Amino acid sequence: MFFYHSNLFYLPQLETERLILRRIRPSDARDVFAYSRDPEVARYVLWQAQTDIKEAKSYCRSMVRQYKNDEPSSWGIIDRASDHLIGTIGYMSYDDSNRSTELGYSLAHWKWNQGLMTEALSRVIQYTFASMNINRIEAQHETENPASGRVMEKCGMRKEGVLRQRLYNKGRYVDVCLYSILKSDIKASGN
Ligand SMILES: CC(C)(COP(=O)(O)OP(=O)(O)OC[C@H]1O[C@@H](n2cnc3c(N)ncnc32)[C@H](O)[C@@H]1OP(=O)(O)O)[C@@H](O)C(=O)NCCC(=O)NCCS
Repeated sequence: MFFYHSNLFYLPQLETERLILRRIRPSDARDVFAYSRDPEVARYVLWQAQTDIKEAKSYCRSMVRQYKNDEPSSWGIIDRASDHLIGTIGYMSYDDSNRSTELGYSLAHWKWNQGLMTEALSRVIQYTFASMNINRIEAQHETENPASGRVMEKCGMRKEGVLRQRLYNKGRYVDVCLYSILKSDIKASGN
């Protein structure tokens, strides 16, 4: 019997001008640790800065497990120039009944402000609408992290509002901005 959703999250390799997005492997742990140990990178995400490479190894193993179990998972972002993994981007949640999903991402500090996450997110949005029968893509960022909102905006996502104290992160309740893009937005803009 054919199941449409089978292997939905066994993510295929995607390419952009400067990046390759591919499934994370156990051997990526060293690269994951190199940027995930930085508190600046972890400040506005829902994980703590890593303090031991074991945590990076465990993260990579959990991704491999999620691919196998067809659960929402992330791509590793590979810098074509150095062939190193410099971040991740992927699906935080998936709502089958409403055909929607939430994306999240993070990037090594030394690669910020070069347009790289905009490049990665644009490609993932394009792939998601083209290949996953999704109608709505969401993303959210803490109001104190406007760079992330700028990335969403540059990718054609629309700000829908501020959700007050939506999250409890690192000892405090924080406001978040919710963004979305619909399949019909892409059609309307002719992209
Ligand atoms: C947020 C993040 C993904 C951005 O990635 P990036 O590759 O630097 O993003 P880009 O270079 O594509 O775009 C960043 C934009 O934000 C702008 N920006 C940077 N700092 C800013 C700030 N403090 N306020 C407003 N805009 C800011 C940049 O100028 C740029 O916009 P522009 O092209 O109009 O000049 C990256 O900083 C990161 O990984 N941060 C840590 C993890 C994280 O916060 N993840 C997101 C959780 S919601």
